[in-house]
Amino acid sequence: MRCAVFGTGYLGVTHAACMAELGHEVIGVDIDAGKVAKLEAGEVPFYEPGLAELVRRNIDAGRLSFGTSYDAAAVFADVHFIAVGTPQKHGEYAADLRYVHAVVEELAPRLDRPALVVGKSTVPVGTAAGLVERVRVLAPAGRDVEVVWNPEFLREGLAVRDTLSPDRLVVGVENRDGGRGGDTMREFYTDLISDGVPFVVTDLATAELAKSAANAFLATKISFINAISEVCEVADADAVALADILGHDTRIGRRYLDGGLGFGGGCLPKDIRALMARAGELGANQVVHLLREVDSINMRRRTRMVELARAACGGSVLGVRIGVLGAAFKPGSDDVRDSPALNVAGQLHLEGATVSVFDPQAMDNARTVFPTLRYATDPVDACRRAAVVLVLTEWPEFRELDPVSLGDAAGDRVVLDGRNCLDRSVWEDAHWRYVRLGTAA
Ligand code: UDX
Repeated sequence: MRCAVFGTGYLGVTHAACMAELGHEVIGVDIDAGKVAKLEAGEVPFYEPGLAELVRRNIDAGRLSFGTSYDAAAVFADVHFIAVGTPQKHGEYAADLRYVHAVVEELAPRLDRPALVVGKSTVPVGTAAGLVERVRVLAPAGRDVEVVWNPEFLREGLAVRDTLSPDRLVVGVENRDGGRGGDTMREFYTDLISDGVPFVVTDLATAELAKSAANAFLATKISFINAISEVCEVADADAVALADILGHDTRIGRRYLDGGLGFGGGCLPKDIRALMARAGELGANQVVHLLREVDSINMRRRTRMVELARAACGGSVLGVRIGVLGAAFKPGSDDVRDSPALNVAGQLHLEGATVSVFDPQAMDNARTVFPTLRYATDPVDACRRAAVVLVLTEWPEFRELDPVSLGDAAGDRVVLDGRNCLDRSVWEDAHWRYVRLGTAA
């Protein structure tokens, strides 16, 4: 089928390339001509394993192109995916929907034949119903343009895999008894469905809320283990062993029970806040209390890490050299949006420490967000003469560091493991003092 994907950020580029890989003809549309030019040349402007190859392969096969023209997209495609960002509004919890609205305002007046508008962006429940009305007013084809909501659950670092083998496909439709939306989407995703991916058709509101609820659940699971970690710290119990024990219970499962510095990134933090804002607007206030606590447990982990660093430096970090390994919000990504690692590095810098940061992928993004930190050339450079070393993103290359040679470069051989990712005995054998979150300090 012929489709257009509006927005060439993380979600849009991945979706466009993966849909081309499934055999569809895809045009990716963005108002940023610079970004489009790069993509047309096969360059992906962010780090995502496997994506650049997929983009190039599908451009070469003639199934994928990029452009800035809404006119061209409206003529070319019958299915129009909205894949623009919905960031947190400045100074409030609610999501900023201006980019979603901008796509609809531009696109709908150009839809003069039957078409499907498919929302993929994460939006507050009720948004799609409003867009249905707007499309009715703006589109010359009127009721022949349907709106469906098809939320995206991909993880950064695993975006291609998550798009081509999702755990489920969810499609919210206007009217479950009539309309072609559900059938068109079933046909569109036929290869995935025949691979056994569950395909769930529901109403618009349930589909929108499914995405917010999934992220809220994952955030709650992470904050749950981090709240228990706080108990472990005062009770002299071991939060990692405890997570393993809980994980053996098949009702609980081990995934998203990695305690430590907590969640960050462009989705979980802003999505729980957007859900709080929307639930509050609708008068469902109890969930606001729950999610506020999830958020605050998460932010306390960053404070705790700073306290541990301070304690390791004898009560103050003023004038002290600190090595920080990790800036990305998680390994496999160069994204530093709401990154716990960069946040901790920044707080220590503001307390007067000389902070030297190394990350395998996120250096450029980190430098843009926090230009006053020192950026090292490699892990050893970051840790040179450091009073304390903080491991804040669990990149495999940090797990594999040789503590003996790192110890020769570092000052006091104190390591704080913010992600429970190092082998304690190996570091202790190399005469490091090893401290991590979730155990008595
Ligand atoms: C998340 C959702 O997983 C995805 O379904 C949604 O589409 C977008 O948001 P992503 O932000 O890419 O994806 O990251 P994810 O792998 O879920 O991790 C989020 C954060 O939680 C990271 O900062 C990670 O370090 C942290 N995390 C994750 C933990 O602290 N502990 C865990 O056990 C798992």
